[in-house]
Amino acid sequence: MRIAIGCDHAGFDLKPTIKNYLIEKGIEIIDEGTYSSESVDYPEYAKKVAIDIISDKADLGILICGTGIGISIAANKIHGIRAVACSEPFSAKLSREHNNTNILAFGSRVIGSELAKMIIDVWLNAKFQGGRHQKRLDQMTQIEKDESLS
Ligand code: RB5
Repeated sequence: MRIAIGCDHAGFDLKPTIKNYLIEKGIEIIDEGTYSSESVDYPEYAKKVAIDIISDKADLGILICGTGIGISIAANKIHGIRAVACSEPFSAKLSREHNNTNILAFGSRVIGSELAKMIIDVWLNAKFQGGRHQKRLDQMTQIEKDESLS
């Protein structure tokens, strides 16, 4: 399992805790920054992690900003990315089972590190259920391909 991780300055303090937690589980980490608490723009880090997934350098991604919102919206601009901003385990589980999310986003100003770890565990252990859910993902892929919308 390879996970790409990225954050902005707001997520910088939480990133090492998450990173070490995943390393302890034997997961290979690609750390796309940011690497200091200096103010940066979250779309850059969302894009790096999203491209790691799309180019098959990583299997999944974790993104952290202040709320998890901006960084997940930015990641979802990349075709093939299904990012969820999550602050509780129920949505994290269903986001995998029904939506096959490939990026989990957190708000460092919303949740603490122990809740983040719990959400990660639930997210990683949940399995996409396919079937009627695959049909809906296919419809989303078709929306991405539909040039008449752009
Ligand atoms: C940065 O101040 C903050 O706007 C960002 O981390 C994030 O919360 C945006 O959605």
